[in-house]
Amino acid sequence: MGLDIQSEIDVVKVASSKINQVDFENLAFGNVFTDHMLMCDFKDGKWERPTIKPYEPFLLDPSAKVFHYGQAIFEGMKAYKDDNDDIWLFRPDENLDRFNKSATRMAMPEVPEHIFIDGLKEILKIEKEWVKKGLGNTLYIRPFMIAIGTGVIAQPSTQYRFMIILSPAKSYYSGEVKVIIAEHYSRAANGGIGAAKAAGNYSAQFYPTKLANDQGFQQIIWTDDATHTTLEEAGTMNVFFRINDTLYTAPTSERILDGVTRKSLIDLAKREGINVAVQPVLVSEIVEAAKNGSLKEIFGAGTAAVVNPIVGFSYQDVYYELPKTENSIALELKEKLTNIQHKLAEDTFGWTV
Ligand code: COI
Repeated sequence: MGLDIQSEIDVVKVASSKINQVDFENLAFGNVFTDHMLMCDFKDGKWERPTIKPYEPFLLDPSAKVFHYGQAIFEGMKAYKDDNDDIWLFRPDENLDRFNKSATRMAMPEVPEHIFIDGLKEILKIEKEWVKKGLGNTLYIRPFMIAIGTGVIAQPSTQYRFMIILSPAKSYYSGEVKVIIAEHYSRAANGGIGAAKAAGNYSAQFYPTKLANDQGFQQIIWTDDATHTTLEEAGTMNVFFRINDTLYTAPTSERILDGVTRKSLIDLAKREGINVAVQPVLVSEIVEAAKNGSLKEIFGAGTAAVVNPIVGFSYQDVYYELPKTENSIALELKEKLTNIQHKLAEDTFGWTV
C-alpha cells in the first residue's frame, strides 16, 4: 500500500459485530450488509477525509439532487478468501477506471485511487471475517457515489458522497434463466449513458423487465435502439452466444457496458484456444442458428452473475429452447475464472490483487 492509509482514514468500529446473526448458507443476493461502511464527502471542490464507520442510515435533504435528477453511479466488485485466509480482489483498477469514466459522463468528480482502492483495502481488513472461504462464497462490494447538494435547479451538484458497502453473496440468480429479446423498449442509445454504470440505466429496465417477468422470463437481452436487429447486453450482464464452437459477443460501444467479467472471459477463452468473435451479433443469425441446431449456448457474464447459462430465449412470441450441452464452454470458463479468483489456479494474467 503506497500510503500510510490508516492515518488518512478515520475509523470508528461497532461495539459488537452482527456477524453471528447471519446465515451464510442461505443468502439472498444483496440483502445483508457487513458491520461497517466507508463514507467520503466532496465539498468546496475537494474530497474530505474518508471515514469507516458503523453501517447505518443517514439523513439527506429532500432537495438533494440524487432524488430529483438521479445523479448517481456505482460499481460491482467482489472479494474472495483463499485457503490461507488471504483476501483477494479481482482487477480492482478496472473498476476504478470505469467508475471514474461513469463519473465524468454524469458530470460528477472523479474519486482518487487512495480513497477508492486504499479505502476498500482498509475496510476489507476490518471486515475480513465476512469473507468466507470456498468456491461460491464471496463478499460483494458496492462502491457508489450520489449527488447530495441541495436545490431542485437542474444542474450538477457541487456536493457528492462516495461510499462503499459490503454484502456477503453467493449466486445472483437462483434457478434457470430465460430471456426475451427486446423488440420495443431500449436500454441505451448512441450518445447516451449506456456505457456508464449510472443508477438510471438499471431503474429504466425495471418496467420492461417486470413485463418479461410476468411472462416467465428473468431478463431481457437488449437490442440496438435504432433497429432492434443487433443483440447488445442483458442489463445486469454482458452476453455471449456460442454457435458451433465459436463464441460471439457484441463489441463495447456507447451503449454497452465494458464488463470486467466479459473482457476476462474473452482473454481466458482465447488462452484456451476457443474461437472468440467480438462483432455485432444479429438477432436473425441467432434465431437461424437456434432453428438449425448450431446455437449451442447463450450465457451472461457479470460480477454479480459470474457466468450464468441461459436456457432459452423468446423472440416475436416464439420460444427457442437451447439444447443440453455436455461440454459447456460457459461452465468451463466459469470454473477457470472462479479458480483464478479464489486462488485455486495460477493467475497467469496478473488479475488478482
Ligand atoms: C454487477 O454485476 O456487479 C452489477 O453491477 C450488476 C447489478 C445489477 C447487480
